[in-house]
Amino acid sequence: MAVVTCIEDLRVLAQRRVPRMFYDYADSGSWSESTYRANSSDLEAIEFRQRVAVDMDQRTLRSTMLGEPVAMPVALAPVGLTGMQRGDGEILAARAAEKFGVPFTLSTMSICSIEDVAAHVSKPFWFQLYVMRDRGFVGRLIDRAKAAGCSALVLTLDLQILGQRHKDLKNGLSTPPKLTLANIANMATKPRWCWAMLRTRRREFGNIVGHVTGIDDMSSLSEWTARQFDPKLSWDDVAWIKDRWGGKLVLKGIMDAEDAHRAVASGADALIVSNHGGRQLDGAPSSIRALPAIVDAVGRDIDVWMDGGIRSGQDVIRALALGAKGTLIGRAFVYGLGAMGEAGVTKALEIIAKELDLTMAFCGLRDIADVDANILWRAQNA
Ligand SMILES: Cc1cc2nc3c(=O)[nH]c(=O)nc-3n(C[C@H](O)[C@H](O)[C@H](O)COP(=O)(O)O)c2cc1C
Repeated sequence: MAVVTCIEDLRVLAQRRVPRMFYDYADSGSWSESTYRANSSDLEAIEFRQRVAVDMDQRTLRSTMLGEPVAMPVALAPVGLTGMQRGDGEILAARAAEKFGVPFTLSTMSICSIEDVAAHVSKPFWFQLYVMRDRGFVGRLIDRAKAAGCSALVLTLDLQILGQRHKDLKNGLSTPPKLTLANIANMATKPRWCWAMLRTRRREFGNIVGHVTGIDDMSSLSEWTARQFDPKLSWDDVAWIKDRWGGKLVLKGIMDAEDAHRAVASGADALIVSNHGGRQLDGAPSSIRALPAIVDAVGRDIDVWMDGGIRSGQDVIRALALGAKGTLIGRAFVYGLGAMGEAGVTKALEIIAKELDLTMAFCGLRDIADVDANILWRAQNA
């Protein structure tokens, strides 16, 4: 491909360069994938008011998330198995985010461990926590994130059980991949991926392998998840986790105003309106449709962020216009990583920043802090 101009170009490249099993793992939702598709299509349907003859000079996207300055209000969402999209993927993405000036979130289910990523960046990153049955292990994970200097804990509340993703079952998703004839044949067509993977020793769940006892077979993600993730997770757990962590806490996976009120009561610093990128409850509304009611309910009490379906700077500004104080991107950076490694993540961020900047200007604004529902066409014409 000659010139990469948009996230879709990165997706196409990633599809070509990443083994099918891992590309499909990223580019899929649960069951019929209707929520996965709606996340993007509902964003796209939101129209802007085009303004003209306003001063567009001296624009800024600078903002803050959790009180820290960010180059734009876009963080990298936690994505499990990032290190299978490209060897050392978490380190590469964390570095790209740091250089760009946006937060990186490391998943519990990452390939590179917390300590490993911390050793390769110079600024704090965020750590995303899944709650396992083994609370001793969960407590140790929290302590490790603290010791590594992580500046926020992102507690994911919407994955105690796993939504079924057909492609993962059909592909026999595992890490490291099983060396079946079909997998070897497929990997043989992805030389960049193989090269990076051969050069690294990081091919297992770095936060888990060597840190828990009694886990025999780590290769099957869905089986392990089903056995280890705790279906009993409750708001009481949020309280002890907050206590043990003692720092900034973000609750991820809130789609309902009642739950948003509980999130505020828990003392969290921010919440993320998220349906896990359409990977859990298929048939749930898109995140952007769920956002306004939650902003209405708790927007004055807590920072409300959103993720799901963001593939452009236009999508970021749509979420901000509907009241989000910040956004996160998952697949948009994962495609960049699979396509071009660290440079691809940087490219994804550059694409989104440029689109965000120009869209803001076309809407007649110069400061991202001024974005509100007034930039939306329907606000005037409803
Ligand atoms: C491949 C993949 C793996 C993910 N793994 C995690 C994870 O380990 N923890 C988590 O909280 N969310 C996880 N998510 C959800 C993302 O954090 C985020 O909510 C979602 O990707 C946002 O939607 P988008 O990909 O359309 O931007 C994952 C998403 C994808 C696509």
